Amino acid sequence: MKVYLDNAATTRIHPEVLQAMLPVLENQFGNPSSIHAYGRETRSLIETARKNVAKLLNASPAELFFTSGGTEANNTAIRCGIKDLGIIHAISSPLEHHAVSHTLEELAQNGTIRLSLVNIDKQGHIDLVHLENLLKDNPRSFVSLMHANNETGTLTPIEKVGELCRKYDAVFHSDTVQTMAHYRHDLSKLPVDFITCAAHKFHGPKGVGFLYINKRIKIHPFITGGAQERNMRGGTENVYGIVGLAKALEIAYRDMDTDQAHIMELKNYMISQLQNEIPGVFFNGDISEGNLFTVLNVSFPPSDSTEMLLFNLDIAGIAASGGSACSSGSEIGSHVLRAMQVDPNRGAVRFSFSRFNNKEEIDYCIAKLKECFLVKA
Ligand SMILES: Cc1ncc(COP(=O)(O)O)c(C=O)c1O
Repeated sequence: MKVYLDNAATTRIHPEVLQAMLPVLENQFGNPSSIHAYGRETRSLIETARKNVAKLLNASPAELFFTSGGTEANNTAIRCGIKDLGIIHAISSPLEHHAVSHTLEELAQNGTIRLSLVNIDKQGHIDLVHLENLLKDNPRSFVSLMHANNETGTLTPIEKVGELCRKYDAVFHSDTVQTMAHYRHDLSKLPVDFITCAAHKFHGPKGVGFLYINKRIKIHPFITGGAQERNMRGGTENVYGIVGLAKALEIAYRDMDTDQAHIMELKNYMISQLQNEIPGVFFNGDISEGNLFTVLNVSFPPSDSTEMLLFNLDIAGIAASGGSACSSGSEIGSHVLRAMQVDPNRGAVRFSFSRFNNKEEIDYCIAKLKECFLVKA
């Protein structure tokens, strides 16, 4: 049996997405910047995709810029937001994806900004009182806080963060790569300036995403060299990717309630099975409902290393990913679990689910995990 439980890393393409992309790959090859019929045809595919995405998110098409994915979108927001808006202080958390944390650290190291990290608790919730104090002391900051953590699934209340940012005249960027298409974002109400998307996290193609820039914000491009994306992102557009992204988002919104209920049930089932079958497991992050339902981060009783556990799962045909907290200062291991002070002696495995998983797969996974721990006992 083969079981894919690494959907926070990437997802399989939805058959309907593939169907939408195939004609573009086969026949619609014109350069969207060309003024002849071939170009006009692909240009209109891009603009239709933009309009469809904008409608789902309650944004204006003029606020959406297609990118090569989440990393580029986050880099654009942070680098250009800070430079072009003349910002000298940023606030972030120790839990961000490296696309955010490494970018901010570089800007802090080269003296462009001062960087403050907001306090977090052991489940990865940010301390809103501390955030407000930082904002009070540093008006006009650039705030970068992710919506859901990709390793633990703990959610940040971005509405509240956004309101605080507005109150203290801060610019707010949220990495929404793990929540896009899993929740409905209403950008007509959400007080954010930048949010980001990667299509491959919700059964779309790899190498395509977008950056939403609130119309009140004006920045210059990160990638220069072409007038594409209304002068905001140079480079010939990934037309079939953009078509696939829009289709994947449309399907996700169409099926959201059913998918959410199905995935939540699988996650809750896995939690109870793990608790019943493997004494001594605990969960990292906030597993209560209201947190990201696609992710479950499990700390197993001290035994083999995480690598050995993942290796055994892999041999059994089960794909998951992992990381332990590791000791402070260590280059390897998870910076997220370390920041949450998770026991470094315990291996942690992230299981992440999608609409394509089922209960039989969870049963198989539990059986294999039991074998791993029974052999040890
Ligand atoms: C929270 C988060 N941000 C950003 C990224 C990067 O996205 P991409 O792979 O599209 O560059 C990822 C993907 O792993 C992610 O989980």
